[in-house]
Amino acid sequence: MMRRIKTAVLISGNGSNLQAILDAAQAADYPACITLVISNKEEAYGLKRAENADVATVVIPHQHYENRESFDRMVDAALKNHGIELVVMAGFMRILSDWFVEQWAGKLINIHPSLLPKYKGLHTHQRALDAGDAEHGATVHWVTPELDSGEIIVQGSVAIEPGDTAETLQQRVHALEHQLYPAAVKKVATAMLARA
Ligand code: GRF
Repeated sequence: MMRRIKTAVLISGNGSNLQAILDAAQAADYPACITLVISNKEEAYGLKRAENADVATVVIPHQHYENRESFDRMVDAALKNHGIELVVMAGFMRILSDWFVEQWAGKLINIHPSLLPKYKGLHTHQRALDAGDAEHGATVHWVTPELDSGEIIVQGSVAIEPGDTAETLQQRVHALEHQLYPAAVKKVATAMLARA
Protein backbone atom coordinates (compact mmCIF):
# COMPACT_ATOMS: atom_id res chain seq x y z
CA MET A 1 0.00 0.00 0.00
CA MET A 2 1.29 3.46 -0.88
CA ARG A 3 2.04 5.89 1.93
CA ARG A 4 -0.53 8.67 2.25
CA ILE A 5 -0.23 12.05 3.89
CA LYS A 6 -2.18 12.10 7.17
CA THR A 7 -4.60 14.96 6.74
CA ALA A 8 -6.98 16.84 9.03
CA VAL A 9 -9.87 19.03 7.87
CA LEU A 10 -11.01 22.01 9.98
CA ILE A 11 -14.68 22.94 9.62
CA SER A 12 -17.39 25.09 11.20
CA GLY A 13 -20.49 24.13 9.23
CA ASN A 14 -21.99 22.11 6.42
CA GLY A 15 -18.74 20.56 5.24
CA SER A 16 -19.59 20.05 1.57
CA ASN A 17 -15.93 20.67 0.71
CA LEU A 18 -14.97 18.11 3.34
CA GLN A 19 -17.36 15.68 1.63
CA ALA A 20 -15.76 16.30 -1.76
CA ILE A 21 -12.32 15.57 -0.30
CA LEU A 22 -13.55 12.46 1.55
CA ASP A 23 -15.07 11.19 -1.71
CA ALA A 24 -11.90 11.85 -3.70
CA ALA A 25 -9.80 10.13 -1.01
CA GLN A 26 -11.67 6.88 -1.73
CA ALA A 27 -9.56 6.48 -4.88
CA ALA A 28 -6.83 3.88 -4.42
CA ASP A 29 -4.16 6.26 -5.71
CA TYR A 30 -5.20 9.37 -3.74
CA PRO A 31 -2.08 10.60 -1.88
CA ALA A 32 -3.87 11.91 1.24
CA CYS A 33 -5.86 10.08 3.90
CA ILE A 34 -8.35 12.09 5.96
CA THR A 35 -7.83 10.89 9.53
CA LEU A 36 -9.27 13.73 11.62
CA VAL A 37 -11.98 16.39 11.39
CA ILE A 38 -11.97 19.26 13.89
CA SER A 39 -14.92 21.63 14.34
CA ASN A 40 -15.30 24.67 16.58
CA LYS A 41 -19.09 24.09 16.48
CA GLU A 42 -20.67 20.94 17.84
CA GLU A 43 -23.73 21.29 15.58
CA ALA A 44 -21.66 21.41 12.38
CA TYR A 45 -23.17 18.98 9.85
CA GLY A 46 -19.67 18.19 8.62
CA LEU A 47 -19.14 16.18 11.83
CA LYS A 48 -21.86 13.77 10.63
CA ARG A 49 -20.12 13.47 7.29
CA ALA A 50 -16.89 12.56 9.09
CA GLU A 51 -18.65 9.97 11.26
CA ASN A 52 -20.29 8.45 8.19
CA ALA A 53 -16.84 8.08 6.67
CA ASP A 54 -15.40 6.59 9.89
CA VAL A 55 -13.11 9.54 10.43
CA ALA A 56 -12.25 10.65 13.99
CA THR A 57 -13.78 13.95 15.11
CA VAL A 58 -12.83 16.51 17.75
CA VAL A 59 -15.05 19.45 18.78
CA ILE A 60 -13.27 22.44 20.31
CA PRO A 61 -15.90 25.09 21.14
CA HIS A 62 -14.09 28.41 20.78
CA GLN A 63 -16.32 30.19 23.31
CA HIS A 64 -14.85 28.01 26.07
CA TYR A 65 -11.44 29.60 25.60
CA GLU A 66 -10.25 32.89 27.01
CA ASN A 67 -8.38 33.99 23.94
CA ARG A 68 -7.47 33.00 20.41
CA GLU A 69 -4.16 31.45 21.31
CA SER A 70 -5.52 29.13 24.04
CA PHE A 71 -8.10 27.83 21.52
CA ASP A 72 -5.40 27.42 18.90
CA ARG A 73 -3.22 25.47 21.35
CA MET A 74 -6.04 22.91 21.72
CA VAL A 75 -6.35 22.59 17.94
CA ASP A 76 -2.57 22.21 17.67
CA ALA A 77 -2.54 19.51 20.38
CA ALA A 78 -5.33 17.52 18.67
CA LEU A 79 -3.48 17.65 15.35
CA LYS A 80 -0.22 16.51 16.95
CA ASN A 81 -1.98 13.71 18.90
CA HIS A 82 -3.22 12.34 15.59
CA GLY A 83 0.15 12.65 13.83
CA ILE A 84 -1.30 15.05 11.27
CA GLU A 85 0.98 16.17 8.42
CA LEU A 86 -1.38 18.42 6.41
CA VAL A 87 -4.19 20.69 7.65
CA VAL A 88 -7.02 21.67 5.31
CA MET A 89 -9.34 24.53 6.28
CA ALA A 90 -12.77 24.05 4.69
CA GLY A 91 -15.32 26.60 5.83
CA PHE A 92 -13.52 27.03 9.16
CA MET A 93 -14.80 30.39 10.35
CA ARG A 94 -12.06 31.26 12.84
CA ILE A 95 -8.97 33.31 12.19
CA LEU A 96 -5.94 31.39 13.44
CA SER A 97 -3.25 33.15 15.49
CA ASP A 98 0.16 33.93 14.02
CA TRP A 99 1.56 31.43 16.53
CA PHE A 100 -0.58 28.62 15.06
CA VAL A 101 0.07 29.60 11.46
CA GLU A 102 3.81 29.60 12.09
CA GLN A 103 3.61 26.17 13.79
CA TRP A 104 1.95 24.77 10.66
CA ALA A 105 3.74 26.79 8.00
CA GLY A 106 3.92 24.86 4.72
CA LYS A 107 1.32 22.36 6.01
CA LEU A 108 -1.80 24.54 6.21
CA ILE A 109 -4.11 25.37 3.30
CA ASN A 110 -7.43 27.20 2.87
CA ILE A 111 -10.08 27.72 0.19
CA HIS A 112 -11.42 31.19 -0.39
CA PRO A 113 -14.41 32.04 -2.61
CA SER A 114 -12.82 34.66 -4.87
CA LEU A 115 -10.16 35.06 -7.50
CA LEU A 116 -7.47 36.11 -5.03
CA PRO A 117 -5.86 38.59 -4.68
CA LYS A 118 -9.31 40.10 -5.34
CA TYR A 119 -11.84 40.20 -2.48
CA LYS A 120 -10.06 38.97 0.60
CA GLY A 121 -12.38 38.58 3.61
CA LEU A 122 -16.19 38.27 3.58
CA HIS A 123 -19.09 38.88 1.13
CA THR A 124 -16.98 38.05 -1.89
CA HIS A 125 -19.89 37.19 -4.22
CA GLN A 126 -21.69 40.47 -3.66
CA ARG A 127 -18.45 42.40 -4.02
CA ALA A 128 -17.71 40.75 -7.39
CA LEU A 129 -21.25 41.63 -8.57
CA ASP A 130 -21.03 45.20 -7.29
CA ALA A 131 -17.73 45.68 -9.13
CA GLY A 132 -19.34 44.54 -12.41
CA ASP A 133 -16.76 41.76 -12.85
CA ALA A 134 -17.11 39.39 -15.82
CA GLU A 135 -15.85 36.46 -13.77
CA HIS A 136 -15.53 35.21 -10.23
CA GLY A 137 -14.15 32.03 -8.71
CA ALA A 138 -12.34 30.27 -5.90
CA THR A 139 -8.73 29.94 -4.80
CA VAL A 140 -6.87 27.35 -2.74
CA HIS A 141 -3.87 28.96 -1.06
CA TRP A 142 -1.22 28.43 1.59
CA VAL A 143 -2.13 30.03 4.89
CA THR A 144 0.21 32.74 6.16
CA PRO A 145 -0.34 35.23 9.00
CA GLU A 146 -1.85 37.83 6.66
CA LEU A 147 -5.49 36.87 5.89
CA ASP A 148 -6.15 35.34 2.43
CA SER A 149 -2.70 36.40 1.20
CA GLY A 150 -0.57 33.23 1.02
CA GLU A 151 0.80 31.78 -2.21
CA ILE A 152 -1.85 30.38 -4.58
CA ILE A 153 -1.99 26.60 -5.12
CA VAL A 154 -4.90 26.38 -7.59
CA GLN A 155 -7.58 28.76 -8.79
CA GLY A 156 -10.70 28.29 -10.90
CA SER A 157 -13.18 30.72 -12.37
CA VAL A 158 -16.85 30.91 -13.37
CA ALA A 159 -18.46 33.46 -15.70
CA ILE A 160 -20.81 35.96 -14.06
CA GLU A 161 -24.13 35.78 -15.95
CA PRO A 162 -26.69 38.54 -16.40
CA GLY A 163 -29.25 38.21 -13.59
CA ASP A 164 -26.83 36.55 -11.17
CA THR A 165 -27.39 37.29 -7.49
CA ALA A 166 -24.98 36.65 -4.64
CA GLU A 167 -26.90 33.39 -4.04
CA THR A 168 -26.78 32.03 -7.60
CA LEU A 169 -23.15 33.00 -7.92
CA GLN A 170 -22.31 31.38 -4.61
CA GLN A 171 -23.93 28.13 -5.74
CA ARG A 172 -21.80 27.97 -8.89
CA VAL A 173 -18.62 28.89 -7.02
CA HIS A 174 -19.40 26.24 -4.41
CA ALA A 175 -19.73 23.56 -7.11
CA LEU A 176 -16.40 24.71 -8.50
CA GLU A 177 -14.82 24.48 -5.03
CA HIS A 178 -15.84 20.82 -4.87
CA GLN A 179 -13.70 20.20 -7.96
CA LEU A 180 -10.81 22.45 -6.99
CA TYR A 181 -10.23 21.45 -3.38
CA PRO A 182 -9.73 17.69 -3.84
CA ALA A 183 -7.39 18.48 -6.75
CA ALA A 184 -5.41 20.95 -4.64
CA VAL A 185 -5.07 18.49 -1.73
CA LYS A 186 -3.88 15.89 -4.22
CA LYS A 187 -1.29 18.28 -5.62
CA VAL A 188 0.04 19.30 -2.20
CA ALA A 189 0.11 15.75 -0.79
CA THR A 190 1.87 14.45 -3.92
CA ALA A 191 4.58 17.09 -3.49
CA MET A 192 4.92 16.20 0.21
CA LEU A 193 5.33 12.51 -0.59
CA ALA A 194 7.97 13.29 -3.21
CA ARG A 195 9.96 15.26 -0.62
CA ALA A 196 9.68 12.61 2.11
C1 GRF B 1 -16.98 27.71 1.16
O1 GRF B 1 -17.64 28.59 0.30
C2 GRF B 1 -15.59 28.20 1.43
O2 GRF B 1 -15.00 28.83 0.34
C3 GRF B 1 -15.82 29.18 2.52
O3 GRF B 1 -16.78 28.55 3.33
C4 GRF B 1 -17.62 27.70 2.53
C5 GRF B 1 -17.65 26.34 3.16
O4 GRF B 1 -18.67 25.52 2.66
N1 GRF B 1 -14.58 29.52 3.17
P1 GRF B 1 -18.77 24.00 3.12
O5 GRF B 1 -18.89 23.99 4.64
O6 GRF B 1 -17.56 23.28 2.65
O7 GRF B 1 -20.02 23.48 2.50
